[in-house]
Amino acid sequence: MKKATKVMALAAAMVMLACTLTACGGSSKGGKLTFGTNAEFPPFEFVTSEGVIDQYDGIDMAIAKSIAEQNDMTAAIENMEFDSLLVALQNGQIDAVIAGMTATDERRETVDFSTPYYTATQVMIVKEDSDIAAAADMADKKICVVQGYTGEVCVNDMGYPYEAFKKGTEAVMELVNGKCDVVVIDSATAQKYVSDNEGLKIVEDASAFESEEYAIAVQKGNTELLEKINKSIEAMLADGTVNELAVKYTEAVAE
Ligand code: ARG
Repeated sequence: MKKATKVMALAAAMVMLACTLTACGGSSKGGKLTFGTNAEFPPFEFVTSEGVIDQYDGIDMAIAKSIAEQNDMTAAIENMEFDSLLVALQNGQIDAVIAGMTATDERRETVDFSTPYYTATQVMIVKEDSDIAAAADMADKKICVVQGYTGEVCVNDMGYPYEAFKKGTEAVMELVNGKCDVVVIDSATAQKYVSDNEGLKIVEDASAFESEEYAIAVQKGNTELLEKINKSIEAMLADGTVNELAVKYTEAVAE
């Protein structure tokens, strides 16, 4: 080998070694932290022309971006159906799930959750002239939920029949068109739908719907990533970042 070629070969070998040591290029092990979401859940995640991560914007997307940056990584988003998120996480297709996801005991059986970053509750969206004033009033009404959301679990546990839709917007359209009487969904998202559509209102029932905590999910046992995520979330809770984001995006979507 000529000397120049040797030097080049050595340099290439060193780059490769450095890559093996830091594992560049491979999901969370490298510079990239891939979050799975379902971008159908404003103000937490939605698709827009120019979001904080590619075309994705919302409270969760800003949090994801910041977590990655705080750990010298770049956030990437994989948008998929809500029901597919935990499977994709277990398969290793994504590193973490950030999707306004409530940390439930059932989900804890398959994944680990971070420190919670937001408290929500299920609410009922009804027509302005509806006589539904409490959860029990749904008994003889036509109820719509979104498939796989905790709202579906709540209504199911109450023993009421319901129809499940793939997207919140579809369930709300059903209500707007008078084909159902009530949509049960998370509070902040409900606010967004009510401000987007004429003639709707929110009915709360704190005695029927427990408060829920949103958290980021990682693969069971991935303590290394979980600790990084927790450190970042705790910093963003302590310095008011999460609060600011919540205010910013609820105002932004309430226009
Ligand atoms: N908080 C509810 C749940 O965990 C709904 C979350 C929906 N999130 C979404 N990105 N579509 O089931």
